[in-house]
Amino acid sequence: MLTSERNELLTRVGAGTPMGNLLRRYWMPIGGASEFDTMSIKPIRLMGENLVLYKDASGRFGLVDRHCPHRRADMTNGWVEHGGIRCSYHGWLMDHTGACVEQPYEGIAHPRPAKDNCRIKAYLVREVAGLLWAYMGPQPVPELPVWEPFTWENGFREIVLADVPCNWFQCQENSCDPVHFEWMHDNMSNRLRGSSENAAPKHLKLKFEAFEHGFVYRRVREGQSEDSRYWTVGRVALWPNGFYLGSHFEWRVPIDDENTLSVAWFFVRVPKGREPYVQGAVPTWVSPIRDAQGRWITSHVINQDIVAWVGQGAIADRTKESLRSSDVGISMMRQRFFAEMEAVAAGRDPLGVIRDPHAAACVALPNIARELNTEGITLAELGNYPLLKQRFVNGFQFHYGQPADVRQAFEQAMGIARN
Ligand code: FES
Ligand SMILES: [Fe+2]
Repeated sequence: MLTSERNELLTRVGAGTPMGNLLRRYWMPIGGASEFDTMSIKPIRLMGENLVLYKDASGRFGLVDRHCPHRRADMTNGWVEHGGIRCSYHGWLMDHTGACVEQPYEGIAHPRPAKDNCRIKAYLVREVAGLLWAYMGPQPVPELPVWEPFTWENGFREIVLADVPCNWFQCQENSCDPVHFEWMHDNMSNRLRGSSENAAPKHLKLKFEAFEHGFVYRRVREGQSEDSRYWTVGRVALWPNGFYLGSHFEWRVPIDDENTLSVAWFFVRVPKGREPYVQGAVPTWVSPIRDAQGRWITSHVINQDIVAWVGQGAIADRTKESLRSSDVGISMMRQRFFAEMEAVAAGRDPLGVIRDPHAAACVALPNIARELNTEGITLAELGNYPLLKQRFVNGFQFHYGQPADVRQAFEQAMGIARN
């Protein structure tokens, strides 16, 4: 249980709030580069700021204020050129640094237009692993960590986005919450299939540990020994707003205090014998969270998570909760956030910020599936990996709504295309 003041500290992300200041010290994934194969300007709201993300005619990405610095027209209605994004109202052109590089009429009215003192708010954008990342914090800019799975080859990657109408922190608490797998995923899925029993293997033992990039949780369930990698290696609640499960990442990026952009990145290595496989653009798609009747979609793993998160309320009221032993990791995570907010207020770099480019070039994480993803298995051996088979091969079971062309490309990559 927390006081309402402490709850506010964890959940408010606007500029100038303690959490807003902390989260702005990290590069955030904000979408997929392949979204810009079919458009050039996308409105986007991040941490309470209205922005536009664009790809200019030279292929450079930019992230600028939604509103033009001239008379506040919506930059979404503009267009991109070689040097940036142009406002459609009076034609001012902004580059990716935020400089206003053209004010067309002023160039005629005055031989030397006073454009130097006019800028649009702009943030850095970079592309890694098909994801677009933004940095919205102060200088000096930290390194963008290239997580080791981003360097893996011979795999099919895809990015899935979802708009989640609740605060980011309750989504992130789910990253350090192993017991929910037994209920929210296993027992609930069984119930949806008509079972009347809670037959999922029970959690028998949990352990949570802090490390330099967040927390590792380990678990033993019925039928599993302590030799299992779920216990010897564990899974990672990735600091500050990610989750890493061995083959895929999830991030919970605040849109504002009551909305979250869910960004998930998946990797499936092609079976042995299918190498070399070189993927072109990494497909990006948006997963719906409600059906045509407006009901929550509960058929897919991350959709089930989303139903749990939004059910906690727009901002979970932590003054009314009752934490128990399954929530040790969540308490650790909250305490760490309070400490790191204080570190930022005191002028220190918070946890996990990387300043050394060599260290950032390939950052390893505890990984229960490294060999599977770096050495690969044959198609026949897939049967020994029930989760892999169930979640990917039999259909994409993480998010509802995978487009047919993405599925087709996946099946071709894997060599399991039906015709
Ligand atoms: S409002 Fe954008 S150029 Fe005038
Ligand atoms: Fe989950």
